[in-house]
Amino acid sequence: GVTPKIAPSMLSSDFANLASEAKRMLDFGADWLHMDIMDGYVSLLSWTSLLKDFASLSFYFFSTSCFSHFHSRCFRFYFSCLSIQRWVLIVFFVFVLLTAILLWRHATNLQDTVLPFAENWQELIQKIKSKAMRPGVALKPGTPIEEVYPLVYSENPVEMVLVMTVEPGFGGQKFMPEMVDKVRVLRKKYPALDIEVDGGLGPSTIEMAASAGANCIVAGSSIFGAAEPESTKSSERINPSL
Ligand code: DX5
Repeated sequence: GVTPKIAPSMLSSDFANLASEAKRMLDFGADWLHMDIMDGYVSLLSWTSLLKDFASLSFYFFSTSCFSHFHSRCFRFYFSCLSIQRWVLIVFFVFVLLTAILLWRHATNLQDTVLPFAENWQELIQKIKSKAMRPGVALKPGTPIEEVYPLVYSENPVEMVLVMTVEPGFGGQKFMPEMVDKVRVLRKKYPALDIEVDGGLGPSTIEMAASAGANCIVAGSSIFGAAEPESTKSSERINPSL
């Protein structure tokens, strides 16, 4: 058996304290941190989770000294635009989020990230590997499993397949049990592949995914919503029968 890797989804964290939230999860024993980089393949809806924390945004995650001057100017700008147009605020808000994502990128799991611009997927995979990163591909629920076969079975294969177990977009959705079949089929075909599941994973669903062969578990609301996240961690420590 293999112990699944646990990747807390930072989308469910307190964005006003992103750095300490990340540290808290690593201290609890998280293997990876899962960071969604919304690049247009999902609706903007998920970004609203930032809004609730925006008013108290501490700018802690911009804490490198070279950014400190920039912060204070941003901060003033934020307050002055409160009385201006709503779109100004939105543009600024998007800008802050993108900056945060860029700063965090090196420290996160990039399997779900579409990197800029290659002619085709072979070239994209090549580029990712040349940067010493691991290429992976994410499958939305509606995408048939057959579509990943050419990417996994190729001279230059992806190293991970992420099976989305909810429609991507936001945390706290209900796990789609029918996606477990995709995991099972993939695991049977590719014993050594990293197979990740993401969406609706928690104490009641992790076992299903892991026993079908998922060896990487992304979990947002179940971990961040737990009174003791470390207990989520230990209940996730189960052995999938591969
Ligand atoms: C969905 C995101 C997930 C999400 C998972 O688009 O990719 O990472 O945050 O959240 P939960 O675990 O709450 O379903």
